[in-house]
Amino acid sequence: MTTTALPPSGSAGTDLTRGAATDTVLVLDFGSQYTQLIARRIRELNVYCELIAGTAPASEIARHHPRGLILSGGPASVYDDGALHPDPAIYQMGIPILGICYGMQLLADDLGGRVKASQRREYGLASVVVDSEDGVFAGLPTEMSVWMSHGDVIEELPAGFRSVAHTVNSPVAAMSGPGGRIGIQFHPEVAHTPQGVELLRNFLYQTCGCSGSWHAESFVGHAVEEIRQRVGAEQVICALSGGVDSAVAATLVHRAVGDQLTCVFVDNGLLRRGEGDRVIEALGRSMRMKIVRVEAEERFLRALQGVVDPEEKRRIVGREFIAAFEEENRRLGGVPFLAQGTLYPDVIESTAADTFGAQKIKTHHNVGGLPQGMRFSLVEPLRYLFKDEVRRVGRALEMPDDVIQRQPFPGPGLAIRIIGEVTKDRLETVRSADWVVIDEIKRSGLYHRVWQSFAILTPVSSVGVMGDLRTYANVVAVRIVQSDDGMTADWARVPYDVLSDISRRIVNEVPGVNRVVYDISSKPPSTIEWE
Ligand code: XMP
Repeated sequence: MTTTALPPSGSAGTDLTRGAATDTVLVLDFGSQYTQLIARRIRELNVYCELIAGTAPASEIARHHPRGLILSGGPASVYDDGALHPDPAIYQMGIPILGICYGMQLLADDLGGRVKASQRREYGLASVVVDSEDGVFAGLPTEMSVWMSHGDVIEELPAGFRSVAHTVNSPVAAMSGPGGRIGIQFHPEVAHTPQGVELLRNFLYQTCGCSGSWHAESFVGHAVEEIRQRVGAEQVICALSGGVDSAVAATLVHRAVGDQLTCVFVDNGLLRRGEGDRVIEALGRSMRMKIVRVEAEERFLRALQGVVDPEEKRRIVGREFIAAFEEENRRLGGVPFLAQGTLYPDVIESTAADTFGAQKIKTHHNVGGLPQGMRFSLVEPLRYLFKDEVRRVGRALEMPDDVIQRQPFPGPGLAIRIIGEVTKDRLETVRSADWVVIDEIKRSGLYHRVWQSFAILTPVSSVGVMGDLRTYANVVAVRIVQSDDGMTADWARVPYDVLSDISRRIVNEVPGVNRVVYDISSKPPSTIEWE
């Protein structure tokens, strides 16, 4: 896992979220795989939180006016050559600091204690005994189950610190020092530490004195105000994709500047059945937004003709989208502002990839990432939000449930769910099969309990028998996964009866299909989409 570095705030878009919160807590990221999770937990506790590179200068940290800092875990040892340390000036800022795992060892090392490799590493569940029932442990049991993942221990505490919890293997499982400086060896942010949320709550509310003013509703009010200030009397354009993020971003902007917003919906012919109409209906007719619908199916199909390589398909869909969108923008006379539904994970991921050259698995295309070379000022009201927060904002905006609860759908659409060439016929096949999957998953009450459910048209033909006749027809794969954020996923253990109904209906209702298989791969090593 790489360390993330965020771009200077406000560099690309409006910096809306921070204005909505009176209290901010920053997580200094030293490369733990759980860093995003810490930020989410804190926001779930109604305190606004952002990630920042672990080595960010104290001056940059101070610009956020944080009430407290959290030093994340990380893969290194603090005594390694080149191990990342925070700017020493953070210890002069006079605000509480919670060090988690590697973060606790940083506190110890930076403040004059000593850390060494342990003979007895702790990975997985451990039982921690609390020796001091105040501070972050106030109200918690004296013995509790926690998640550990470390090979180093604190040999000598820094001056003024005392050990406040231990395990059989670590005499210092938590330490407390003057000025609200606390270290914990275990991970409070993971579900395997059941009391972890309470511990974080104590840190935020008791140690840092946060008031818990971060709510979707308060966010809407502040975001609307900031958009108004930024945009003034100018025009804004927004590309709707049919997905949740662009719909919520557009609705926020519309709430702020009304008819100064024009939404462009490029129908690329690669959407699910009825999707285009539903978007126009929900946002255009019900919410009274100005929406231009661009019928571009022919254009996309022509460009995709004969193409089988997944990355090539993604590039083509991205390129054609830009071209179609640019044409529309020119027709509108060149609009100065572009509203996008960029989310916080996109910001973190793309920055990490840009900065550290992380391996590219797929070129993600979404309208959020497109306007390279296009001269717009960006309005990105969701730039600091996680997906579940976007849904909450959507609800606060009274958007229709089926728009905000819709399962994610990739930018390149059905083109990457047809393995091999994309043709009109094959699109119709996968679209019909997809419709059956969604219909059955909704009927069984599972639609909101899984992350995604869809059909893939494989390039395989198989022999079958229908009536008394031999068939030689397409194989459709069904993929249903559970996931928290799309980064990892597992195949869903859907009841056999539901799978059976899906299979029977696809073979009966979708011409040219005689076999259905269920994908039982997790991510990693597979990905959610097949291409
Ligand atoms: P993978 O296939 O990478 O997908 O495991 C992870 C999640 O991202 C979605 N996905 C995309 N979303 N543009 C998007 O907006 C894309 O190009 C894209 N490719 C994949 C995928 O549906 C899953 O939810």
